[in-house]
Amino acid sequence: MTEILCPDPAGNARAALLLQQGGLVALPTETVYGLGADARNSAAVARIYEAKGRPSFNPLIIHVADVAQARRYARWSDLAQNLADGFWPGPLTLVLPLTSHHGLSSLVTAGLDSVAIRVPAHPTARAILERFGGPVAAPSANPSGKISATTAAHVRNGLDGRIDAIVDDGPSAVGLESTIIGLTARHPLLLRAGGVSVEAIEARLGSALDSANGADIIAPGQLASHYAPHASVRLNATKAEPDEVMLGFADIAGDISLSTTGNLTEAAACLFDRLHELDALRKPIAVAPIPNHGLGRAINDRLRRAAAPR
Ligand code: TXA
Ligand code: MG
Repeated sequence: MTEILCPDPAGNARAALLLQQGGLVALPTETVYGLGADARNSAAVARIYEAKGRPSFNPLIIHVADVAQARRYARWSDLAQNLADGFWPGPLTLVLPLTSHHGLSSLVTAGLDSVAIRVPAHPTARAILERFGGPVAAPSANPSGKISATTAAHVRNGLDGRIDAIVDDGPSAVGLESTIIGLTARHPLLLRAGGVSVEAIEARLGSALDSANGADIIAPGQLASHYAPHASVRLNATKAEPDEVMLGFADIAGDISLSTTGNLTEAAACLFDRLHELDALRKPIAVAPIPNHGLGRAINDRLRRAAAPR
């Protein structure tokens, strides 16, 4: 049985208790819903992989309440501090070298000597993290390879009966996973485009980010086919073919639109929700062109993976 919890002190306390007991709890975050487990408990983390049907070589992001907690697990640097000052709490994940006494399950790090870590901004996520007091491993709360969950209903549709609880706190505001920056090499590396734009990070750093090339990629969000609806997806479409449903943007109306005014923040926030809606119709999906700047870059990344051959 999957419990549905309210985002109030009693619900948050119950969520923290379930995490302490090695349970799986879907948590609201500002990016997407995360499927959380105690990152120090291998049995609990193994259940994440089991519930999602996720290939087990993929490392997971850990979520903590603040920088002080992050420093227990990750070797800190001036660069990390600069980015944390600019974007934490918020939709940015930093990949940093592990500390020597981190105590994290090797299932979380997938045996790497680095850890991906973030301090989420969502008040309910923060309340639960503070109450729990430890690191929470949390990939997006959807079956592996499927569209990410941005509402409690999405989580329930994908994982009901497979997890202990869902904390229902409405739709995720950002709607895209966090941006991931690798800080283990000499230059900061963009590992995944996401909820903080590349332009904003480059402005903060005062320099351009390197991009991961194929060989470096250890991020499963980087698998070619990911975020996949049941039906096929056709990108950069200006109009729908007779059998298709269409996801519009700006001037291209479609059956439903990511943003009729061409607003990329609005489009990011509803992207996965619109894909879930169209997916329910079980027809091929045509998608209007999305400009490739700001959050458009992360939106196009997700759309390309949704459209990839599988
Ligand atoms: O917004 C988000 O980031 C959401 C919410 C729930 O916080 N979480 C999320 O987690 O998207 P997940 O597990 O779906 O994606 C984690 C990404 C993966 O692409 C993974 O490979 C990468 O982080 N990652 C984790 N540890 C890493 C490491 N040590 N080096 C490089 N990439 C790593
Ligand atoms: Mg995911």
